[in-house]
Amino acid sequence: MAKPKVVLGVSGGIAAYKACELLRRLTESGHDVRVVPTDSALHFVGEATWSALSGNPVSTEVWESVHEVPHVRIGQAADLVVVAPATADMLAKAAHGLADDLLTNTLLTARCPVVFAPAMHTEMWEHPATQENVATLRRRGAVVIEPAVGRLTGVDTGKGRLPDPAEIFEVCRNILNRHGLARGAAAAPDLAGRHVVVSAGGTREPLDPVRYLGNRSSGKQGYALAKAAAARGARVTLVEANTGIADPAGVDVVHVGTALQLREAVLKAVADADAVVMAAAVADFRPAVYAAGKIKKKDDGGAPTVELVRNPDILAELAADRALPGQVVVGFAAETDDVLANGREKLRRKGCDLLVVNEVGERKTFGSEENEAVVLASDGAETPVPYGPKEALAETVWDLILPRLRSTT
Ligand code: CTP
Repeated sequence: MAKPKVVLGVSGGIAAYKACELLRRLTESGHDVRVVPTDSALHFVGEATWSALSGNPVSTEVWESVHEVPHVRIGQAADLVVVAPATADMLAKAAHGLADDLLTNTLLTARCPVVFAPAMHTEMWEHPATQENVATLRRRGAVVIEPAVGRLTGVDTGKGRLPDPAEIFEVCRNILNRHGLARGAAAAPDLAGRHVVVSAGGTREPLDPVRYLGNRSSGKQGYALAKAAAARGARVTLVEANTGIADPAGVDVVHVGTALQLREAVLKAVADADAVVMAAAVADFRPAVYAAGKIKKKDDGGAPTVELVRNPDILAELAADRALPGQVVVGFAAETDDVLANGREKLRRKGCDLLVVNEVGERKTFGSEENEAVVLASDGAETPVPYGPKEALAETVWDLILPRLRSTT
């Protein structure tokens, strides 16, 4: 089989040196990579490096090998274009369709998925001009990865760092896998222009400064859902509780601890969301009283009684009181007995559109890489998902959400 053709566009920022690592990962995993740097990118990393690492010629201009019409051919032939780093200037040019060098021409002729990995100072990223350009690119179907937070050039820190090359690579690989190298309009990411919210992990309800009531949710299914949606072009907000998993590239992550914090973060995020998937295991109860000091053993040999109070049912609240008309609300249910009957009853009781039901037990689901489920829909449809990776279940969930999304035209 022919190697997938990837164009690595590099624009002129200090993070250009990190694109060498992305290039190495792409070539080592069997991709045919053509590097198209901008002139200013070559100030940071020279042509010889790109050429040696890619094994392909490198040009920045449309005036080289004119008989091969490179400004058209490179984009046409690509299975994926990834621009890393994408400067504020590059995002502006791409959003406005400028074509003054080989990379911007390539962006106009490419009909494959396009990924931008921005890197710039926080002020430039947050400027309304950049934010509007990013929104434009996303609306058209490009995947714009959220920059990471951390040390920037000089003494500054903040949002604007190029995400880890390994993360950018994973986004690219997911997109290529998903599109099976299909070319043309059909390959457009089908969640482009959508905002989706996913909750993941398990809440912890503190009892005293050292103890909490928790559960065994690993958060892996929620992360698989968030990554799959990002690869399908959505803007993703992931509300995460106690997973300890690194933030995935291209996803806005909000970290919370308790059920009440999770509720607040989810309600805020869904205000403009097309869909919300509650994959988190939310504690139904919390200790009525939080002891400010560690609860000590008494000399009488007795044990304290912990009084619990109910937490709000966030899923039921989201379904009953939708932030936008037609917002799709999806829940998860982990059941140990009468899985389907309990699932159907829960779907009705919670009022959501889809409920992903899986059987849990000693060795099933919690912490594992695999899952088996049935997705129940409020219209009566039931979709069994065979035992397999959590990524596959994530794709099926989005496949089922897609036709239920509100019309945006
Ligand atoms: N959920 C929620 N808020 C809660 C509890 C659960 O939003 N306080 C959501 C979970 O995120 C999940 C779904 O509801 O999507 C199902 O959770 P589950 O614990 O199975 O439902 P319960 O209503 O707690 O049912 P049970 O009586 O079986 O515990």
